[in-house]
Amino acid sequence: MAQPPRDVGEDDCLPEYRHLFCPDLLRDKVAFITGGGSGIGFRIAEIFMRHGCHTVIASRSQLRVSTAAKKLTAATGQRCLPLSLDVRSPPTVEAAVEEALKEFGKIDILVNGAAGNFLCPAGALSFNAFKTVVDIDTVGTFNVSRVLYEKCFREHGGVIVNITATLGSRGQVLQVHAGSAKAAVDAMTRHLAVEWGPDNIRVNSLAPGPVSGTEGLRRLGGAATSTSVLTSPLRRMGNKTEVAHSALYLASPLASYVTGTVLVVDGGMWLTLPNSVQRLADVASSSAKL
Ligand code: HXC
Ligand code: NAP
Repeated sequence: MAQPPRDVGEDDCLPEYRHLFCPDLLRDKVAFITGGGSGIGFRIAEIFMRHGCHTVIASRSQLRVSTAAKKLTAATGQRCLPLSLDVRSPPTVEAAVEEALKEFGKIDILVNGAAGNFLCPAGALSFNAFKTVVDIDTVGTFNVSRVLYEKCFREHGGVIVNITATLGSRGQVLQVHAGSAKAAVDAMTRHLAVEWGPDNIRVNSLAPGPVSGTEGLRRLGGAATSTSVLTSPLRRMGNKTEVAHSALYLASPLASYVTGTVLVVDGGMWLTLPNSVQRLADVASSSAKL
């Protein structure tokens, strides 16, 4: 079995990288990546740039994306435009997309990676807490997709990769907000794939499992270091580079006939991960605002 590619835990570029795909795979493409300043989104930006792509990385914190853009450009030599937006606010999305189009003249790829999550029992979740996660994950994904469709993809075609999760597939405890939000995005993927396919737009979801070196994992209390991971099919957690390689595949011409799918990138973990109610409840009691 192939060894997993190396990764680093922080939001830093890889100290060394060996191409598995052709280095020109995304040459002169432009990708707009929400949540691209940290975690999985940062590594997706890096891997895309290492394959010839220019990127726009966008999130709420201008400092976060500006710091990330400097690192990404230094490591890859490609251009990276850092922009501030809140995916819940269409005017900020429109302004960012216009700025990106002014800078690059086009956008070919959209990665919807912005998301929010925490552990909380459904019975203690405030109405606003549920709404907040759905607003960021689901409404935010629609907002950015809709703006890019109108301003670019309808005329020129494009590719959308929605980063989701498998939480809703089996009904993970303490995750009704994120599981519902991501399941709705998977449905959105299918709807938009059908409706926008004739405009030469491919839309797919990529659903990672627990990924090392990420905020998402920290918020689950490092849940994936438990024995449940060691009894999962591949006996280990995935890393950000493995997720980014799958995003690269979906965004590239290698996936030219792939649309409306959910690519699960979790080492088969959703099939075997138990619902550890008590263990997660212990984590939640220290992290949830109850
Ligand atoms: C319970 C909580 C809470 C918690 C916030 N809330 N944190 N409830 N437990 N730990 C409640 C608040 O009390 C409030 O409700 C409501 O949620 C909104 O909170 P705000 O802080 O005002 O929201 P906002 O500033 O918009 O921040 C959004 C956020 C925040 C999601 C709450 O954590 C954030 O910005 N997260 C981004 C980074 C992130 O989450 N990364 C991990 C992604 S990983 P009330 O009723 O008091 O007004 C991921 C993985 C999925 O998505 C799959 C994993 C396998
Ligand atoms: P992360 O580093 O916290 O990434 C989330 C990003 O979203 C941050 O860069 C954040 O930046 C941005 N963001 C949050 N709210 C936003 C908003 N309203 N508008 C614009 N940007 C916003 O977490 P991650 O763990 O790498 O997760 C990345 C993606 O993978 C998410 O979609 C997540 O659901 C998915 N995922 C992760 C795991 C995992 O194990 N980590 C598993 C399954 C799925 P700002 O704070 O600057 O806005």
